[in-house]
Amino acid sequence: MKKLNYGMVGGGPGSFIGDAHRRSINIDSMAQLVAGSFSRTWEKCRQTGADLGIAEDRCYANFEEMAKAEAARADGIDFVVVVTPNVSHYPVCKAFLEAGINVACDKPLCLTVEQADELCELADSKELLFLVTYTYMGHVTAKHIRQFIKEGKLGKIRTVMAEYPQGWLAYEGEWGGKQGEWRCDPEQSGGVNCLGDLGTHVENAVSTLTGLKIKRLLAKMDVVVPGRVLDDNDVVLVEFEDGATGCYWASQFAIGHDNSLSVRIYGENGSIIWKQEECEKVIMISRDGTIVERHRGNAGIEPKAAAYGRLPSGHTEGWLEAMGNLYRSFITCINAKKDGTFTPDMIDYPTVHDGAEGIRFVHACLKSNEQGNVWVDM
Ligand SMILES: NC(=O)c1ccc[n+]([C@@H]2O[C@H](COP(=O)([O-])OP(=O)(O)OC[C@H]3O[C@@H](n4cnc5c(N)ncnc54)[C@H](O)[C@@H]3O)[C@@H](O)[C@H]2O)c1
Repeated sequence: MKKLNYGMVGGGPGSFIGDAHRRSINIDSMAQLVAGSFSRTWEKCRQTGADLGIAEDRCYANFEEMAKAEAARADGIDFVVVVTPNVSHYPVCKAFLEAGINVACDKPLCLTVEQADELCELADSKELLFLVTYTYMGHVTAKHIRQFIKEGKLGKIRTVMAEYPQGWLAYEGEWGGKQGEWRCDPEQSGGVNCLGDLGTHVENAVSTLTGLKIKRLLAKMDVVVPGRVLDDNDVVLVEFEDGATGCYWASQFAIGHDNSLSVRIYGENGSIIWKQEECEKVIMISRDGTIVERHRGNAGIEPKAAAYGRLPSGHTEGWLEAMGNLYRSFITCINAKKDGTFTPDMIDYPTVHDGAEGIRFVHACLKSNEQGNVWVDM
């Protein structure tokens, strides 16, 4: 397989997720970073490029220039990684799609449903691949649950309880650094904070693991910490198309919680309990109450999921490997497109359409909350 070239928008000095993407992609050595617009400040962009060994003529002052220049090069990038704050996802993704370049963008996909629909339409009409990095769904155990449910082994799902509490924004005036500052600022996060940041992970985790589609929902979005203007605690009741129900919770002031995404799925044949902070294992309970803990690296994991493991059991894999698993499938698909062997069933990562579902979920919740916590169709 040929090593691909990629570029990055965002990921400058002091940023969080850009570096995680670079490390995750490096795990499999299937692509190399050759270009970037790492910051809106030219000096910071140039310095990051130099630190990462990027040629100066492939460090760009802005993303518009980068999209045009890379599309015009014979050795231009095969895909771009978008790791800027939420407000710029849409214009950046749009510029690269219009330039004919595949896109990997962090969640949430964008700010509005109209933007999400446009990005879906652009990617589809130009036949470009689009990964949205809902990182947690790359875990081997998450892939195991998905496969197990897809094969009907849990039977009909009756209800799902899912939550993502964090505690890092629990106090007034403590913004958790620049990452907290833009998340709590309506101008930079698009009028929604906790639900966009954490609720979209919950929505994506449940839909990915179970395959269930939301029919309608009722949301209560609260601003609890004094001094905040955007939601920091969200509770959502969900009804799925087949009549199953769900209850979602996301919070940023739940002291004691770091990244405690967890999902409990109750089906007619048993139950599944999964916690992303204990991602090497999944608890499966059969109808007679027998509790089994299945661990990555052992034979109890569905073979299709197990194939993503890199290390023997007991040699811990985690969040970077999960992100690497999404990239492994995305890069494999781009390579297959290049050599004419691609088929859509090869896609094993969250796409632009999954990202758009997240935005539809956010806006249905906003509508429900604004109208006095009433049921709203998705
Ligand atoms: N998948 C996950 O689990 C996960 C986790 C954390 C963050 N995220 C997402 O990743 C994105 C970035 O979050 P972060 O915490 O890394 O933010 P950050 O503030 O740490 O970093 C953002 C970077 O983007 C740069 N930037 C901003 N606008 C730019 C532009 N127009 N052109 C070039 N560079 C620009 C900034 O200079 C900075 O370097 C957000 O959308 C966030 O929701 C996802």
